[in-house]
Amino acid sequence: MHRLLAIYPGSFDPPTLGHLDVIERGHRIFPRLLVAVLRNADKQAMFTAAERVEMLREATRHLEGVEVCDFQGLLVDFARQRGAGVLVRGIRAISDYEYEFQMAWMNRRMSPDLETVFLMPGADFAYLSSRLVKEVAAGGRSVAGMVSPAVEARLQAKLAVKAGEV
Ligand code: PNS
Repeated sequence: MHRLLAIYPGSFDPPTLGHLDVIERGHRIFPRLLVAVLRNADKQAMFTAAERVEMLREATRHLEGVEVCDFQGLLVDFARQRGAGVLVRGIRAISDYEYEFQMAWMNRRMSPDLETVFLMPGADFAYLSSRLVKEVAAGGRSVAGMVSPAVEARLQAKLAVKAGEV
């Protein structure tokens, strides 16, 4: 197991600048960081896993040692398969704690050697979430400063397709 290989898992639907901030902070600590996009989530995703991987690859191209891939099944199994020793999660407001601690506890129960590390994103992203970004974009408002221009363009394109479907 490589203690220094860390996994940053998530839905990333879509990736926000808050996610990117956590990736950059995580990368400063862990030279090898694997950003892992959950495939086949129960929840209805706006972007396919392939699209989310692509957006993250575009956004992290400048970060040597950061890799992006998708995964399915249990995160602990994926971590073992990749030989990762650390999970990175971003924690924003106190409201994130409950869910994050449940997950960290359950993951530790299943895989005691795998350590979860929580990182605090920059203050600008403290209240940012992919869900709200999608709502704001769907309402016709700008999400500049919350996602990269490339992701904003993809959101607009996705919403335009959706609007055409109705
Ligand atoms: O960005 P999200 O939606 O908060 O990320 C949640 C994620 C992908 C980290 C979590 O749902 C997950 O790890 N799913 C994989 C299935 C799994 O391992 N479930 C048990 C978690 S205790």
